[in-house]
Amino acid sequence: MASIAVYSVKGGVGKTTFSVNLAWCAATISRRQTLLWDLDAANGSGFLLGVNPKKKRSAQSVFSADRGPEKLIRKTDYPNLHLLPADESIRTLDRQFDRMGKKKRLAKLTSGLSKNYDRVIFDCPPVLNEISTQVMRAADLVIVPLPPSPLSARAFETVVEEVKGSGKSHPPILPVLSMLDMRRTLHKKARAANPKWPAVPLASAIEQCAVERRPVGAFAPRSPGARAFAQMWTAIERKLASKKR
Ligand SMILES: Nc1ncnc2c1ncn2[C@@H]1O[C@H](COP(=O)(O)OP(=O)(O)OP(=O)(O)O)[C@@H](O)[C@H]1O
Ligand SMILES: [Mg+2]
Repeated sequence: MASIAVYSVKGGVGKTTFSVNLAWCAATISRRQTLLWDLDAANGSGFLLGVNPKKKRSAQSVFSADRGPEKLIRKTDYPNLHLLPADESIRTLDRQFDRMGKKKRLAKLTSGLSKNYDRVIFDCPPVLNEISTQVMRAADLVIVPLPPSPLSARAFETVVEEVKGSGKSHPPILPVLSMLDMRRTLHKKARAANPKWPAVPLASAIEQCAVERRPVGAFAPRSPGARAFAQMWTAIERKLASKKR
């Protein structure tokens, strides 16, 4: 089993969009048993997958009780893809982690999932606190969506520094240009400066995910956006394979 976090301290950079579409690629293209674990109280991943929240707000109980996350996991419309939804109850998750004093709580819960899942993807909230520290201890790979700018590389270095600050060791971090618009000069420059980074185009089909409440590959499989996520997923699988060797 491998776990992949989609993380940035910045809000609105495409973390949830990446998480949902990459999870769909893992489940559908790679046919991996996949769990999308939403760690953001806003529950964006559930929304984009068309999974409606239950009345009882119990996402927080996964971390405090010793009964594991299985009970809260939901099926989705897609084969091989399950969701562990978030809700308001995890707004104070960072303090809860602090109080518990268990530094590897998330890592332990994640490794407990390895009997049922090949891939776990974390949709992270835009924070730098005990939640991100726990995520860095649990993840095998971290994806950082970066809006294109002449300072993209520096913005990425900042994220790496922040991640380093949260612990001695950290997993490999893969930067990805997000919402790339090649009609814009500054975006073109950002692309030229970082030619090896995967990139996701600014695309109305991707924006439509929130209207369709489906991953882009499910309703516009030939669109540039769907192809970009498929390519990124291939790069991620390659990176995970090279890490194992
Ligand atoms: N490649 C794209 N093309 C067009 N729109 C996009 C693209 N990626 C994301 N968006 C839009 O940008 C907005 C922010 O995306 P998203 O919610 O995925 O960001 P986020 O980093 O998860 O935000 P938050 O920090 O609030 O959780 C959404 O409205 C989404 O539809
Ligand atoms: Mg989000």
